[in-house]
Amino acid sequence: MVCVRTGRALPSLDRSSRYRQGMCCDRTPSLAEGQGVPPSWLHSAGPIVFRPASGRTQVLVPSAVPDPRDLGTAAAAAAPTGRFAARTAGMTASEIRALFAVASRPEVVSLAGGMPNLAALPLDALASEVGELVAAEGQTALQYGSAQGTPALREQICEVMRLEGINADPSDVVVTVGSQMALDLITRIYCDPGDVVLAEGPSYVGALGSFAAYQARVVHIEMDAHGLVPSLLRSALESLARQGITPKFLYTIPNFHNPAGVTLAVERRPEILEICASYGVAVVEDNPYGLLGFSGTIYPALRSLDRDVVYLGSFSKTFASGLRVGWALVPPAVRDRLVLAAESATLCPPTFNQMIVSRYLQTQDWQSQIKTFTEAYRERRDAMLSALETYLPPGCSWNVPDGGFYVWLTVPEGVDTKAMLPRAVTARVAYASGTGFYADGYGSRQLRLSFCYPTPERITEGVRRLAGVLTAELDVMRTFGVPTRAASLKPGPGAPSPDTA
Ligand SMILES: Cc1ncc(COP(=O)(O)O)c(C=O)c1O
Repeated sequence: MVCVRTGRALPSLDRSSRYRQGMCCDRTPSLAEGQGVPPSWLHSAGPIVFRPASGRTQVLVPSAVPDPRDLGTAAAAAAPTGRFAARTAGMTASEIRALFAVASRPEVVSLAGGMPNLAALPLDALASEVGELVAAEGQTALQYGSAQGTPALREQICEVMRLEGINADPSDVVVTVGSQMALDLITRIYCDPGDVVLAEGPSYVGALGSFAAYQARVVHIEMDAHGLVPSLLRSALESLARQGITPKFLYTIPNFHNPAGVTLAVERRPEILEICASYGVAVVEDNPYGLLGFSGTIYPALRSLDRDVVYLGSFSKTFASGLRVGWALVPPAVRDRLVLAAESATLCPPTFNQMIVSRYLQTQDWQSQIKTFTEAYRERRDAMLSALETYLPPGCSWNVPDGGFYVWLTVPEGVDTKAMLPRAVTARVAYASGTGFYADGYGSRQLRLSFCYPTPERITEGVRRLAGVLTAELDVMRTFGVPTRAASLKPGPGAPSPDTA
């Protein structure tokens, strides 16, 4: 989505262009009054937002499937054979991945990745459980299994979801290779190229990557300190309806949001469901962090209020991300298609890994383990917040997350966090710049800091280094009076990877 502010009505747009007039959101000013939209923007990936000085803000959503010739040309240029599918043009590597070789050196403090801290896991106990699994049930564990997942694990997943008020039938659960696979499959079965998906702005980079891979267009809905704003959701839907567009679904991360760190207020939850229902829009609730609240509060899932919600869950953050076990809980009408899609992707999720998770849930005190994890994460969050308070220059702001892994930081006007990233890595600190979390290139004043993995001491040191880099940027701006230059890294979300997930 390209965002512009205009002094008047929309810049003169060719009526025959492939764009129609639409809805709203407010964003970065970047067009002078009366200036026309550069043609290159009309061929950009997503909707174009206009914020007039007076009157309603509008979004132009490309009216049809992106021109396959445009995409085909890009794909052909990138493909040695020139034969890649047009949709591969939307697949790009994440920004941090380009710097990964440097960012993963031990001397660099990485505040970029969302890797869970597994140090607290009872590895000895797990080792003997795994050994016993192979000895006692190896013939089953090492064999193909059901495309939907093992019945035992699906039942246990229903027990886990009960903590969030969900009353589910195991036959509606589909086990996937991480919830990332569920996201990919849900997008595959819902979205044709050009379809519109609503997502919070910012949103999870892996979801944006899946939406891009299926050529869906993202309209972001802004959040405040209490999560997604219902009135903005309603006005976005109204505006899209005026264009004859019904989004395929709202993708939302209600708890301890990645990357924004906020939680959707409990009183907003029924309202959001009601708004989506009244416009015939499905809701996809992605909830990998729901049990990771620092105060022990577990919020009621949207799915607990409405059985039509598609719910995605994961053992990545509450147990072990390397096992790649996640799930989707779907209405029966969606289930059969999802299972077929899963089957065509992987035949079945790994039986061995599912059985390890099952044993873990059966034999270990997993709820106490989650408490141990959250205590460690809270200590790290506190270290990060106190370092931000101590070291950051004036003009920065951030949220105080009550769970999960992330702090979302806004830096002073003029600093471009994407341009600054290579300089930060040179100063031995890495972060995820904000633009990766928007489908439209917005977010250059934001960045995400993860506190999940490094020790509190490393976090403090990382923030101190980041503050040094920011201060140097501000000095350059003060001296030369110009914003920091945008880097030549590609815009957009990029593919998810463990270093940015
Ligand atoms: C919001 C969100 N959804 C989904 C995922 C994917 O998790 P999984 O490891 O289950 O694939 C992540 C990973 O960071 C995430 O933050």
